[in-house]
Amino acid sequence: MNVQRCVIGNWKLNPATKSVAHELAQGLSGIACDAVRVGCTPSFTHLSTVAGVLAGTPIWVGAQDICAYTQSTGAYTGDVSAEQLSDLGVGFVIIGHSERRNYYREDHSLLVEKMKQAFAADLSVVFCIGETKEQYQANQTLSVLDDQLSVLQTFRVPRGKLIIAYEPIWAIGTGLTPTTQEVIATHAHIKSVLASYHFEGVSVLYGGSVNEQNAAEFAQAEGVDGALVGGASLKLDTFAQIIAAFESAS
Ligand code: PGA
Repeated sequence: MNVQRCVIGNWKLNPATKSVAHELAQGLSGIACDAVRVGCTPSFTHLSTVAGVLAGTPIWVGAQDICAYTQSTGAYTGDVSAEQLSDLGVGFVIIGHSERRNYYREDHSLLVEKMKQAFAADLSVVFCIGETKEQYQANQTLSVLDDQLSVLQTFRVPRGKLIIAYEPIWAIGTGLTPTTQEVIATHAHIKSVLASYHFEGVSVLYGGSVNEQNAAEFAQAEGVDGALVGGASLKLDTFAQIIAAFESAS
């Protein structure tokens, strides 16, 4: 089954200023994308600016987090709700990124609550999974992914709203990546797990040190439906080259 190919920029806590975010968004608005769905995820303070620039373009604007406890408003200091995100024109949320799991101690049950809030507001979810270096070296990758994916069986996941990003933690921001053969095998495993859950049409993206040099190889790899790109999404020319690599492999 053909799934939607996506290349999504995870801007993390970048850039430092609203004017640079505005510039990046303006650059993105001129990028040619046809077969590939292109997205970016500014920080909360830049969401409104970026969503404004990209309104009416095919570029998908996402958030990096969402309130787990309410969909609308309430006494949740520091949080941002699904309703507030939708109101800005946000279409998706990244949930389960290893930086959130590690620095903010987000556990399975919290991630499930966040996903439920996003789906209830009709937002899509990019759910990140991945193993540590120690788990990779101990050959535990697939069992770690099985465990992370298993939470998806505990609630109703609406059709067409879920994207998986496989991101080996040791590949994030390090310049290291698994071999293409390893990524192909891991994506095949993830897809078989999703099929066993009777999920259809879920795109499985690869993330972790994707750059303009290795993008073409990942783009041509069986079962790699796109990329979640951190550092290389912050420079328009490199991000454009990554998008072009996935476009031409489509
Ligand atoms: P990276 O980050 O491309 O800088 O490795 C990817 C991610 O964390 O999503």
